[in-house]
Amino acid sequence: MIRIQNLTKYYGKRRAVDDITFNVEKGEIVGFLGPNGAGKTTTMRIITGYLMPTRGDVWIAEHNMATHSLEGRRLIGYMPEVTPLYMDMTTRAYLTFGARLRGLDGKKAGSRVEEVVEQCALEEYVDVMLGKLSKGFKQRVGLAQAIIHDPQVLVLDEPTVGIDPIQVAQTRKLIKELGRDRTILLSTHILPEVSMICERVIIIHKGRIAAQDRIENLSTILKGGRRIRLHVRGPAREVTERLTRITALRDVRYEEPFHVVEFPVDKEPQAEITGLVVQAGWTLLAMESMEMSLEDIFLQLTTEEEGER
Ligand SMILES: Nc1ncnc2c1ncn2[C@@H]1O[C@H](COP(=O)(O)OP(=O)(O)OP(=O)(O)O)[C@@H](O)[C@H]1O
Ligand SMILES: [Mg+2]
Repeated sequence: MIRIQNLTKYYGKRRAVDDITFNVEKGEIVGFLGPNGAGKTTTMRIITGYLMPTRGDVWIAEHNMATHSLEGRRLIGYMPEVTPLYMDMTTRAYLTFGARLRGLDGKKAGSRVEEVVEQCALEEYVDVMLGKLSKGFKQRVGLAQAIIHDPQVLVLDEPTVGIDPIQVAQTRKLIKELGRDRTILLSTHILPEVSMICERVIIIHKGRIAAQDRIENLSTILKGGRRIRLHVRGPAREVTERLTRITALRDVRYEEPFHVVEFPVDKEPQAEITGLVVQAGWTLLAMESMEMSLEDIFLQLTTEEEGER
């Protein structure tokens, strides 16, 4: 549904997006994840036709955005990073205006406004000036305008930024609901958000794709670091020192009161660890494996180029 091929964008001499290629299939919810300045917003602006790429192509359904931008844009609802709101308009007036811009006639516009107001839980604020809304509600109005024409494709640039925890939960639920019969690309730098909402994730770093996979597969694409957490009753420093000598272990850390060790998937250092502990006369109170979280994966992927792996 969204197809991006060899997309590159320079701002002057600065390369913001560097030869990225990916697809979002019909009906998928894909998280677009990356640290500040990674190129998420730039990519989304190109996808939605607000910015021309330096090189490369974008298709929305069968429409090439370079040549058939109008047709493509009709299919897209876009919630930009900062929603340009007219502060002296009421929520209703603004959404009606958006609906008319999207080509809905008066009557249809009116009924759609009612629908999105309900979907985005804006009932209390329909007749309030946008300038008087809190940040979180402004975000919701931004989302409401993005879905006003019931688009098949949604591009949401950090839709939950600045929203309080209760509203965040509601907004995520709404996005999931919207995703049942739509294609969604959603940017964020909040990792748990991705696992909560998305089926697949594309990780971008310094304008390049660092990884893309289904959430449940993500840790396996890394060289499969595995981790074990040990609770050893013994002198912490000495325990650390002895563990470090086990060659299978890639990393040994002390996080009081635990020792956390990391090793490649093809290694099985457990026996050696227990042997060491027993031999030293210490007690092994616990040993458990730890799943690599998205945070860990992200950190590894984005620090990889420092060349330690
Ligand atoms: N209008 C612009 N002119 C010049 N450089 C820009 C412009 N917009 C973005 N950049 C640069 O392009 C790079 C990518 O920026 P972009 O806004 O796409 O990142 P992002 O992933 O959305 O970051 P964030 O998480 O902070 O929103 C950055 O280095 C940024 O400084
Ligand atoms: Mg951004």
